[in-house]
Amino acid sequence: MKEKNKDLIIAGNWKMNKTPKEAEKLINKLKTKNKNSACKIVLCVPFIDIPLATDLTQNTLISIGAQNCYFKKNGAYTGEISAEMLKEIGVEYVIIGHSERRIYFNETDEQINKKINSALNSGLKVIFCIGENLQERENNITEEKLIIQIKNALHKVDKSQIENIIIAYEPVWAIGSGKTPNKDELDHICQIIRNTVFNMGKILPEKISVLYGGSINSKNAKEILTLPNVDGGLIGGASLDIEEFLKIINCTAK
Ligand code: PGA
Repeated sequence: MKEKNKDLIIAGNWKMNKTPKEAEKLINKLKTKNKNSACKIVLCVPFIDIPLATDLTQNTLISIGAQNCYFKKNGAYTGEISAEMLKEIGVEYVIIGHSERRIYFNETDEQINKKINSALNSGLKVIFCIGENLQERENNITEEKLIIQIKNALHKVDKSQIENIIIAYEPVWAIGSGKTPNKDELDHICQIIRNTVFNMGKILPEKISVLYGGSINSKNAKEILTLPNVDGGLIGGASLDIEEFLKIINCTAK
């Protein structure tokens, strides 16, 4: 069960969308139109938008996240960005293990584990994504799959750091598809995720944050975000449209 009265987290995952000019417009609108301070807003923006995004959100309740980082601190790794570099320019969160990175960039659990350790050691909070694909769901191995992903990714993570990890449950078949799990199934899976992390760390189950991601929109947000085991949402497509994103944020008003 999530902690009572804890603010929900609404994280936007912009993916490879929004040029700096477009990012500036969206963030300025969000700042002027958002009247709800009852949730934590995190914008996970493309690397190129980060300096502007951290500037524009200074002294606001909006935090900035990246969508990936490399696990080495520095060195001859052409094209990569380290967690330490992100931290220095004001990034607070980083998404690690998104299914698009696993599928299109062949990221493995082992690499994800190294990235998580490196991000935590650099002082970033991690939004760690897990999820089963359609075939795994149809074969009824969703729970096993999620438990393996969690165990592999959190291997050698210091127990005291577990509270800096937010787990985002994102079924691969739900991402960008308009489909979502039914609410009982979703709540049950988030409970299993909570218990699995609890068994690995020193952290109380209610202190763990479990987000849901996959086709959240302004119509289904309230039902999903009020589930007992869901601490917030990771929102892709619907975070790119400011009116839609604001409606989702407003679902969290207490
Ligand atoms: P979606 O994406 O909201 O567009 O389904 C979610 C995600 O991939 O994080």
